[in-house]
Amino acid sequence: MGSFKPIRKAILPVAGLGTRFLPATKAMPKEMLTIVDRPIIQHVVDEAKAAGIEHFIFVTGRNKTVIEDHFDKQIELESTLRERGKFEQLKMLNDLLPEAGQTSYTRQQSPKGLGHAVWCARDIVGDEPFALLLPDVLVQAPNKGCLAQMIEIYNETGGNVLAVEEVAPELTSNYGVVKIEDQTADGVMKINGMVEKPGPGKAPSNMIIMGRYILQPEIFKILSTQGLGAGNEIQITDAMKTLMDSQDFHACAYEGRSFDCGSKVGFLAANVAFALERDDVGEEFREAVKKLIS
Ligand code: G1P
Repeated sequence: MGSFKPIRKAILPVAGLGTRFLPATKAMPKEMLTIVDRPIIQHVVDEAKAAGIEHFIFVTGRNKTVIEDHFDKQIELESTLRERGKFEQLKMLNDLLPEAGQTSYTRQQSPKGLGHAVWCARDIVGDEPFALLLPDVLVQAPNKGCLAQMIEIYNETGGNVLAVEEVAPELTSNYGVVKIEDQTADGVMKINGMVEKPGPGKAPSNMIIMGRYILQPEIFKILSTQGLGAGNEIQITDAMKTLMDSQDFHACAYEGRSFDCGSKVGFLAANVAFALERDDVGEEFREAVKKLIS
């Protein structure tokens, strides 16, 4: 294992409008929609925490203050739960609470793209490698969370690591797509090309960038002058492509299943998949689903 700087901080871009979920997202951020009984953003923070992340940087926008409230103490609720003897719920809420000083919030003032959202967090991240987790994507992993799996690779290779997965070729135009150079004996894959939302016939493979990244701080300097890319937005993929000239990028073909919670069907499927895995409601829910389908 190399001795690389630890990954302590994570950026969570949560400024998007969530128009695909209107009217649910008229007054509520899409990241607060629930998968079973936890907001989407809580699932992502849990994944990051389980991977050892100590500081959560939310890049927010207007109408997102509920996210800040969610990761804060709720004194009235807590005293009501205490009065009513609901100590289990009280403990659960306290366990989920980040420690004082472990969260930061900064605003992306205009929707200029994912690359711009990441750049907005540059001063809070400072000069250290960091994780980037897109909350639209949830991962159900059998043993170890996706980011934890990526950090294992990072601890071997250093540099930058991207979670990748295969999709049907006709879907590659919705994603950042990577080209894998070779696979070393220990299964680590090196990336030597990438393109954001490739047009027909332009995808270098059907391996997509799934929504989890480990990046080196040099990305910020590149982002500061990054021009507009696909969709007329500042794209993180374009900046990573430049960084690839001077630093290594490795791919993590993680173990697990991803859900695109930015789409209605992906969100519904995530609810079903996560509910089925739950100790408390899983069995009962399985029966309910069986009945509905038959
Ligand atoms: C973003 C990234 C893209 C990545 C995708 C994963 O795209 O730009 O490279 O493949 O997330 O979900 P978006 O979904 O914001 O269009």
